Formats: sequence, C-alpha cells, structure tokens
Amino acid sequence: MSILKIENMSFAYSPNTRKVIDGLSMEFDEGKVYALEGRSGAGKTTLLSLLAALTSPTEGTITVNGENVFKKDTYAYRASDVGIVFQNYNLLPKLNAIENVELSIDISGREVPDKRRHATDILTQLGIADYDLERPVLQMSGGQQQRVAIARALSYDPPIILADEPTGNLDTKTEQEIIQIFDELAHRRNKCVIIVTHSKRVAQMADEVFSIDGMRES
Ligand SMILES: Nc1ncnc2c1ncn2[C@@H]1O[C@H](COP(=O)(O)OP(=O)(O)OP(=O)(O)O)[C@@H](O)[C@H]1O
Ligand SMILES: [Mg+2]
Repeated sequence: MSILKIENMSFAYSPNTRKVIDGLSMEFDEGKVYALEGRSGAGKTTLLSLLAALTSPTEGTITVNGENVFKKDTYAYRASDVGIVFQNYNLLPKLNAIENVELSIDISGREVPDKRRHATDILTQLGIADYDLERPVLQMSGGQQQRVAIARALSYDPPIILADEPTGNLDTKTEQEIIQIFDELAHRRNKCVIIVTHSKRVAQMADEVFSIDGMRES
C-alpha cells in the first residue's frame, strides 16, 4: 500500500480564482524518490504545502497510511509523519546548526535522550564538519545550509521527506552530494522522498517523475 495518496484533489487560493491544482491524483510509496517537475507558477510549492498539510485542499483528499490527513491532527502529522525542506531553508539564522536541529526535535515533541548527541550525529552524517557545527547558520554556505535544512527535516525520523528545489542554488558537485543523500534516504532507509526540482540530475536519480502542468483553467 502506498504511504501517501492524493485523490482527485483541487486547490484554489481563493474562491472564484483559477484552480492552481485541478483534479490531481497521485500515489507515493516508501523506498522511492519522486521528482515533481513543472514550469514556474505551475503549482509545485502549492502541492508540497498541501502534502505537508500546511494548507488544505478545496476538493479531494490526501491520505497517509489510509487515513485522511485533514481528519487527523495536522500538527501531529507535520511533527511525525513528514519532514519538510523548504525552498529558502527557513533556518533560524542566529542559531547554530546543532541548535536548529535541536529546536526541530523540541517542536516535534519527540523524546530523545541525548538531543545534542542526536543532532550532532545527523549533521555529521550529512557532511557538516565538526568546526561548522556551532557556527550561526547565517555564516554557512548555501550547500551547508541545505544540509542543515535536511538534518532538521530528519531530526524526528519521519517516513516522508518533502523537499522544494533542494539543489536549486548549488554547484554541480554539491548538487551531486545532496542527490546522494536523498538517494540513500529512499533506497537504504526506506523513506518516501518527494522532491520538487528543475534539475535533470535529480530527475535521473528519481524512481518516478511527475509533471505538474498547472495550465488548466477552472
Ligand atoms: N499565497 C498565495 N496567494 C495567491 N496565489 C498564490 C499564492 N502562492 C502562490 N500563488 C499562485 O499559485 C500559482 C502556483 O504557485 P507555486 O508557488 O505553487 O508555483 P511553483 O510551481 O512552485 O513555481 P516556482 O517554480 O516558481 O517555485 C502561481 O500562479 C502563484 O502566483
Ligand atoms: Mg516553488
């Protein structure tokens, strides 16, 4: 059974405006990477916000393990089922890498015996060097901030990872390293990884590529 399923979902930002998402159905499995492509303005970020239950559909449903996401506690859904890597990272700039990850663990409400150790381990696994762990994230490079954003999304070990253009601002080598992280998350750790991307390299690594057209008028 798929972990996440959208059925006949539509969404408009306000009544009587164009449906940004119009009658979309999709299924996502654990252990796979999905690339979502589409021109600018097609509705990719909107779709991720819906999948993250940050906003609710105008019509149709989203289910996680067969349960309607919007009939359960959406806060709990975000705190345990999905990890979100935002387009602009959304890190707290004055906090260091460890503090950003610790804060995310706190918000999720998950009991972690040694939070600092746990945060450090995840960051280290994602390639943040020891001497960077305690620098304010504002002073880190784009690729490093991207890794911290991924670490934060992984901090409470959710089965679903949503990422919005995670390699958009990176050079090819760093992009390849970030791609490898997502590859391992899906194919070794059985996560369901959904990536909005314009990158051919991400699409090549993905198990499935969906194209969001966003051209239909209501
Ligand atoms: N808060 C909002 N209120 C009203 N309209 C919005 C809002 N956010 C996005 N839109 C509109 O919805 C459409 C889809 O936007 P979205 O951000 O999902 O596109 P996208 O596919 O992520 O584009 P990009 O590749 O540029 O990031 C666009 O026409 C946009 O103007
Ligand atoms: Mg977008």
